[in-house]
Amino acid sequence: MNASLDAFWMPFTPNRQFKTSPRLVASAQGVAYRTPEGREVLDGTSGLWCVGAGHRHPKIAAAMKRQIDTLDFASSFQVGHAGAFELAERIGALAPPGMDRVFLVNSGSEAMDTALKIALACWRARGEGQRNLFIGRERAFHGVGFGGISVGGMTNNRRAFGGALLRADHLRSTWDASTQAFVRGQPEHGGEAMADELERLVALHDASNIAAVVVEPIAGSTGVLVPPRGYLQRLREICDKHGLLLIFDEVITGFGRLGAMFAAQALGVVPDMIVFAKTVSNGAAPLGGVIVQRELHDALMQGPTHLSELMHGYTCSGHPLACAAALAILDVLDEEQLPQRVRELAPRFEAIVHALADAPGVVSVRNIGLAAGIELAPDAASAGQRGARAQAAAFDHGVLTRAPGDTLILAPPFVSTVDDIQRMADRLRRAIEDTA
Ligand SMILES: Cc1ncc(COP(=O)(O)O)c(C=O)c1O
Repeated sequence: MNASLDAFWMPFTPNRQFKTSPRLVASAQGVAYRTPEGREVLDGTSGLWCVGAGHRHPKIAAAMKRQIDTLDFASSFQVGHAGAFELAERIGALAPPGMDRVFLVNSGSEAMDTALKIALACWRARGEGQRNLFIGRERAFHGVGFGGISVGGMTNNRRAFGGALLRADHLRSTWDASTQAFVRGQPEHGGEAMADELERLVALHDASNIAAVVVEPIAGSTGVLVPPRGYLQRLREICDKHGLLLIFDEVITGFGRLGAMFAAQALGVVPDMIVFAKTVSNGAAPLGGVIVQRELHDALMQGPTHLSELMHGYTCSGHPLACAAALAILDVLDEEQLPQRVRELAPRFEAIVHALADAPGVVSVRNIGLAAGIELAPDAASAGQRGARAQAAAFDHGVLTRAPGDTLILAPPFVSTVDDIQRMADRLRRAIEDTA
């Protein structure tokens, strides 16, 4: 590489440290990256939870090449192209019944802020504009927009920006180290009691002020925190009882990670909106969106017909290349039966990741679908340091992981074989041992 590393201000990266010992990749194929020196690095995080169908899937690459040679760009502001309409219709058909209106954006953060704006606009259209408080959850990540960090529950992501947040209160995280440390899949107990905390917040703020409850079905970015059985069902019941909207942030879980197209289906709870991104384009182009209950959408389809019903949108909403990638991965998910494959792989994955429980300093292993968090005891000096050291060591050993705090994430592509997953876990074990 000819360029110096100085100019690119890397996101969510300790820049000064990275630039003294960079980790670079040059190419990718299937479930692995190659470094510029040609060394294999298994993709233990599907890029960043994106590449379910594996890197450079030939059908996705071909669809994007065809698209760039046909229609490279068209705005979706008052002009349209077939790809965006086709994609929205197909996503709507894959979502739970009644959820068939789709707003397209370019990232999970934009999708989250879009969902919050739709919620506010819907209440206003219904004459209840005072409903402008959101209920999020501690240890939630909903991207980096002002809306997303407001409902999100990650202190480090909010600290520097606190003055400009939306009105929000937060449920407690579903994580309970005393009972869940080595639970496989969903914990059996405690879900309804945890969700009942929403009743307390409704009593405190009054339902008439609350716009929506926003949760990730599984908290992914903070280390794969799997809610106990009954938790999401109970949240839905309480939202129904008080007339609150329920928004699922499925940026990580959408499009197959839990063995169904959406967590809403895998876990059997239907929200009012689903926020998605990442796997929808297999990471091949920036894309995200919001799936909206038809009723909510229709509530906004009023006013003078020459005016936009929602004053919102992005230059690249419905970008032709992103839509082409997404239409192709929807074909691939179907033709290669990838959600089913995730369901079949999940028990083997579970056994492999839980075998890491005896690696030095592992204090928790939790998993669901093809997602796992392997938590390490923190260094005495500072929380997060052990995780960062293990993440760097894992790259040297040939597996890409991510370390929110001291938890190592494993979220392999859906097309991984059992052997691939075993190799990822073996390399992760070496990294854990090296940094003990
Ligand atoms: C649950 C969730 N929501 C939102 C986002 C933000 O997505 P993006 O980085 O595409 O803005 C992420 C990213 O990891 C996420 O995990």
